[in-house]
Amino acid sequence: MSTKTIRIYESPEELALKAARGFARLADQYVVGSGRFTVALSGGSTPKAMLSLLAEPPLRETMPWSSICFFWGDERCVRPDHQDSNYRMASEALLSKVPVPPENIFRIPAELDPDRAAQQYETSLIGFFLKDAKSTGTAPLSNVRRFALVMLGMGPDGHTASLFPGTKALEATDRIAVANYVEKFKTHRITLTATTINNARNVTFLAAGADKAETLRNVLEGPYQPQIYPSQMIRPGHGALVWMIDRAAAQSLSEQ
Ligand code: 6PG
Repeated sequence: MSTKTIRIYESPEELALKAARGFARLADQYVVGSGRFTVALSGGSTPKAMLSLLAEPPLRETMPWSSICFFWGDERCVRPDHQDSNYRMASEALLSKVPVPPENIFRIPAELDPDRAAQQYETSLIGFFLKDAKSTGTAPLSNVRRFALVMLGMGPDGHTASLFPGTKALEATDRIAVANYVEKFKTHRITLTATTINNARNVTFLAAGADKAETLRNVLEGPYQPQIYPSQMIRPGHGALVWMIDRAAAQSLSEQ
């Protein structure tokens, strides 16, 4: 059974605070329940404030850092120290400030050839979740590659992760992660596929700003057009989908 919830906050600051608290609550729930919390982070600017709040008291003190495993939903094809790197953003905002064991951080090796980077990331995901299934004694197949949480953003063009309108990755239903050529940037990105994201137990979108309002209405209230609005492809089969948005981004929604 899957659920979909839309939560609207007055400001980007309130959105970041509620997102940080929600992240902390889920982390506790999964660590208590299964000993581990597996989360795929998104890139872009919106999650940065949430990550920074997690690195500060009081949340910093209560988080089960040693039981959290960090992955990424997508990455730009740059070195990890490059200013455009999603890994670098998360590392500067959070991971370099909290006691997460290095072996719990599974970044996308996006400095490699794009296809090789995607394959290596897939291999590390399969290896991790199979080991996880063995250590928690759960049936491998049903649990393979089920993130506890996938964090996502949405671009003004309706893309999410690096699933951009009209790109090949939208068709890659049998893959875990792929290299995706994005014409408008004339470069590749590495991204989890919609199939992998939809297999997660929880998926949370963070979206803020008036520049997303029209697209958000089309994504949430318009006809299903995934080639134009890839964010519409995100419909977890057996998970909870939560949209956390600010008032500016929600301004065109029929229900506010
Ligand atoms: C990326 C992201 C991307 C992002 C959206 C929204 O690597 O850029 O993963 O999908 O979430 O572009 O970005 P903002 O939060 O900056 O609006």
